[in-house]
Amino acid sequence: MQPMKSVYIKTFGCQMNVYDSERMVESLAQEGYSETADMANADVIILNTCHIREKAVDKVYSDLGRIREIKDERRAQGRDTMVAVAGCVAQAEGSEIIARERAVDIVVGPQSYHRLPALMKRAKSEQKRLIETSFPDHEKFEQLPQRPAAPVASASAFLTVQEGCDKFCTFCVVPYTRGAEYSRTVADVVAEAHKLVARGVRELTLLGQNVNAYHGADSDGSQATLATLIRRLAEIDDLKRIRYTTSHPRDMRDDLILAHAEVDKLMPYLHLPFQAGADRILAAMNRKHTAADYRATVARLRAVRPDIALSTDIIVGFPGESEGEFQQTLALVAEMGFAAAYTFKYSPRPGTPAATMDGQVPEEVKSERLARLQVALEAAHASFNATVVGRTVPVLFEKPARQDGQLVGRTPYLQHVSVEADAALIGQIRPVEILSALPYSLQGCLAPA
Ligand code: SAH
Ligand code: SF4
Ligand code: F3S
Repeated sequence: MQPMKSVYIKTFGCQMNVYDSERMVESLAQEGYSETADMANADVIILNTCHIREKAVDKVYSDLGRIREIKDERRAQGRDTMVAVAGCVAQAEGSEIIARERAVDIVVGPQSYHRLPALMKRAKSEQKRLIETSFPDHEKFEQLPQRPAAPVASASAFLTVQEGCDKFCTFCVVPYTRGAEYSRTVADVVAEAHKLVARGVRELTLLGQNVNAYHGADSDGSQATLATLIRRLAEIDDLKRIRYTTSHPRDMRDDLILAHAEVDKLMPYLHLPFQAGADRILAAMNRKHTAADYRATVARLRAVRPDIALSTDIIVGFPGESEGEFQQTLALVAEMGFAAAYTFKYSPRPGTPAATMDGQVPEEVKSERLARLQVALEAAHASFNATVVGRTVPVLFEKPARQDGQLVGRTPYLQHVSVEADAALIGQIRPVEILSALPYSLQGCLAPA
């Protein structure tokens, strides 16, 4: 029997890339490829890339250098390697990648990766290097193969419901790399959710670059909101938990806030980026909300769901940010009590308005502000984790832990918990007493039901 062909995929960037990678692997599985973790022996290597900050892009080119060596070595042994660059760097720098790195055979953007198997065949038969970065008219989700029936590796999965962005924050590449906002239909999302649940998924995180701007068509021809979609998904019996990310503060409408009060399966944890604490900077970022608007949105959420916890994204050193303005970011952090936060030094991105703004902040100042911000956030994170120690909380067991006999589970607040428990509990929610908190994980034990 012919050995199976193998595909290695490395995923950079956001959760949507994780979802996209899964779907690429599934579509190649239909062509007879099995996934491998061993890059050096893969017949196909895919890098699913991220363009959000300069560092993310640098990593891609340094990986490509290594891949070139692997490809050359394999060729010397008479073996072919097909190399594809997918994702947001592919979209933004298609021809540059081809020019800079001779190892790359295919460049495929985030809206056209359903064409990857066909592109691979063409690249091989025509002995040509190919770039596919068009934004075909939303055919991707229709043309991807159905999700297979095989059981999933984890009880928690991502599901893209909305993609692209029309907001054009002045620092951000996403509207250019992912294209215009597009929502899948309710029926399409619900059908995929049923498939995933049948494979053992018990928790879904609905994904979108602006997930709360979701406006997919419903079967009666009306436009559904994210709240409607969540309520529809909550009707799936074996689906136990629902989350969504990433939300924009401007799109936190009343019906979505109310869903947090009324839909038990919707977890009391929300990622809501605020980026900066000073209104002048928020305006220059084109966020179209003020710090007061953000506070008011959080107050509305906490009024209906007092136990809701928040995480956020923050950028330091946006062009023109003064020390005083940075302190307004620190003040908002102190006031909000975030459970977690992702913090970034502003990275000028080619083609975005902020890259050419006056007042670019020196690297040392950005680093110093980032360090101060992280101290504040680590303290907030530790004190949030401490609030669950000693409590018994419902934990969804996702998969085996690295230590024998333990499982990894998650609290409603997305905290990892390691618990000694039988693998039969994967996919189930059980009360767990939290015994102790390390910086990035909790230890617990099964509590009587
Ligand atoms: N759609 C999401 C964000 C997607 S990008 C939203 O609107 O919130 C994820 C995060 O990366 C952003 O929230 C922002 O904090 C950060 N980011 C985006 N562009 C950046 C840049 N040029 N420099 C530094 N951080 C950036
Ligand atoms: Fe980027 Fe802003 Fe769109 Fe988020 S809302 S993806 S930060 S442009
Ligand atoms: Fe990166 Fe593209 Fe996601 S730029 S953050 S992979 S949408």
